[in-house]
Amino acid sequence: MLSPFKLERYFARYEFTAPFLLCASDCEALTLDELLRLEPAAEVDWRALRLGYVEAAGSRGLRESVAALFEGVGPDDVLLHAGSSEAIYAFMQSALKPGDHVIVHHPCYQSHYEIAKSIGCELTLWGGDERRGWELDIEFLREAIQTNTRAIMLTAPHNPTGYLMSRALLDEIVSIARSAEIYLFCDEIFRFIEQDVTQRLPGVAGLYDRAVSVGGLSKTFGLPGVRVGWAVTRDRELLAKMMRLKDYLSLCNGATDEFLAGVALRHRTELHRRNLEIIVENLRLVDAFFERRADIFAWRRPQAGTVGLVRYLAPEGTAAFCDRVVRTCGVLLLPSAELEFGDSHFRIGFGRRDLPICLSQLDLYLDGRE
Ligand SMILES: Cc1ncc(COP(=O)(O)O)c(C=O)c1O
Repeated sequence: MLSPFKLERYFARYEFTAPFLLCASDCEALTLDELLRLEPAAEVDWRALRLGYVEAAGSRGLRESVAALFEGVGPDDVLLHAGSSEAIYAFMQSALKPGDHVIVHHPCYQSHYEIAKSIGCELTLWGGDERRGWELDIEFLREAIQTNTRAIMLTAPHNPTGYLMSRALLDEIVSIARSAEIYLFCDEIFRFIEQDVTQRLPGVAGLYDRAVSVGGLSKTFGLPGVRVGWAVTRDRELLAKMMRLKDYLSLCNGATDEFLAGVALRHRTELHRRNLEIIVENLRLVDAFFERRADIFAWRRPQAGTVGLVRYLAPEGTAAFCDRVVRTCGVLLLPSAELEFGDSHFRIGFGRRDLPICLSQLDLYLDGRE
């Protein structure tokens, strides 16, 4: 039995009612018009689109575009899903059985461990060291491996901290997974928005035969309403199992979603540039805000992605603090309890264009002027 997805229930409660969302993890969503304008023929093709079923695994052209995001994989190593959420679910249900042990980079998107828990797996949570910028300790991983360990679950770039592991650390993790012959899963939905592009990691699917990369359009592409995500792995047996499961889930993507995903992937450089520009500008304001508020908040500038985790230094927990903030001034923060990570932190998101107004509302509130 799956427990409620706390973060998703929290957003269900506030996302369409709170006026100032300061914790969303997506980049500013594009309009249909903005997306179609990226390609001269797209508007005509859009109108002529045939609204039939599409290939169950995802159309070949789209799978080729996804494979091009990786080194060393081809279109047959790609399985498209209705968002990366479905890919996470299909991976865990296909790869794990009761009694398996799973090591999970934590805190994280709840499905990374909740689905394993519902299957009857044993979990080890692998947390980063906050004082060292949420750095992961490789020795912890080495010691955590057991004879029944079946998978390591990573998020890189990381949600909620914005931590981006080094290539050297990723290589060490790959080598541990390879020698234990276990799955290495990496949620790469925040890939492509790195503050320093030289720190961009390769997708894990190209690094090891039993590695699985999951990604999609929701965050760094600015297209969460286009429900297209993917799982990429050279493990064809695993992919076939996931395909059999997908027949009972979304079956295939929507033809409209696949069309729009094709445009987005062909123009990913422009989309990522647009979104990075918004983020760089927003982070300047966020840094200045937290510098002014260093008496109550501890902030570390993230290395990548759209979110960061803030420590609240007051004795009051963040569940109570965030509740008071949203009820009084309408600014939504994400308390760490919703991530099952204590009560001392909250997540902020800085990918949207309305961040300046959200931040100034919070400023006014903290000044007691609201
Ligand atoms: C780390 C992570 N993975 C996956 C998802 C699911 O995204 P989607 O199903 O929209 O692709 C989210 C959404 O917040 C996320 O934060």
